[in-house]
Amino acid sequence: MPGKRARFRLSGVTAVITGASSGLGAEFARQLAPHAAALVLVARREAEMNELAESLRRDRPALRVAVVVCDLADAGSRERLPGHLASLGFRVNLLVNNAGLGDYGEFATGAWHRLAAVMEVNMVALTHLAHVFVADLETAGPSGMLNVSSLAGELPIPDFGVYAATKAYVTRLSEALRIELRGRGIFVSVLAPGPVATGFGGVARRGSESLGQPKWSYVDKEKVVRLGLEALVRGRAVVYPGVVPTVAAWVFNALPRVVLRAILWRRPRKAADQP
Ligand SMILES: NC(=O)c1ccc[n+]([C@@H]2O[C@H](COP(=O)([O-])OP(=O)(O)OC[C@H]3O[C@@H](n4cnc5c(N)ncnc54)[C@H](OP(=O)(O)O)[C@@H]3O)[C@@H](O)[C@H]2O)c1
Repeated sequence: MPGKRARFRLSGVTAVITGASSGLGAEFARQLAPHAAALVLVARREAEMNELAESLRRDRPALRVAVVVCDLADAGSRERLPGHLASLGFRVNLLVNNAGLGDYGEFATGAWHRLAAVMEVNMVALTHLAHVFVADLETAGPSGMLNVSSLAGELPIPDFGVYAATKAYVTRLSEALRIELRGRGIFVSVLAPGPVATGFGGVARRGSESLGQPKWSYVDKEKVVRLGLEALVRGRAVVYPGVVPTVAAWVFNALPRVVLRAILWRRPRKAADQP
């Protein structure tokens, strides 16, 4: 059991960042680089990660950066990751569980393989990685685990129901792990952003439609990541980065569920065949 004064710090960190080929994951790598001893970039797109790794090494020759091409939908690849990193000499003390995707559109007409991928990557992979890295994080403690959820996790969103439900899972699981893993010297925080301009919309869209988020509700990815890392260092449970997401989360949680459902019932729908 770590002492009461033990704290997670970014300085000298060895971080595994999932979904590091794009968006928030790449930004996590950029913002962690000045503090880190080593970064491990994990995703499927190798060229994007190699380019990022090269630019990080150019700026900081002392920083060790590894690229691991991994489909997180594959359980075997997830299982092998800690052993692979240990064999390369990495002593991981931060897991940024960031990889994720959405599928925007009517549930009934959605392609099952897309809905299944949303659940597999957002929930199963995140949970599996948290589980397979616990031993390493405990050994290297005080350690950090930052799980990327979403403001969408606070709402039952028609046309985005599966995604929103996976993020509700991420937030609830992380709150429980925060309590459970503290005794092992692992500090768990949740980053739950509202809309951010990344590759997310392009993946979530089924066609050329808009995700229906007003422009003013977007927060820069730089700010989102900065507030996420600050939350982890300060030991905060859940952060909704930015004023709009913070106020929105407060309102969503304060409203009776019946009122929330009534509001969402009237939300403009993407699907043409609404009742
Ligand atoms: N952007 C938003 O508005 C927003 C809002 C709230 C929460 N979030 C959350 O933020 C996180 C990061 O998303 P983003 O906005 O940065 O979107 P993004 O630019 O599309 O990045 C998603 C990342 O996840 C990785 N990924 C997806 N499926 C994967 C798989 N099977 N195996 C390995 N990696 C996989 C992608 O890498 P590859 O394609 O190279 O594998 C990519 O690096 C997600 O969890 C998302 O739900 C985003």
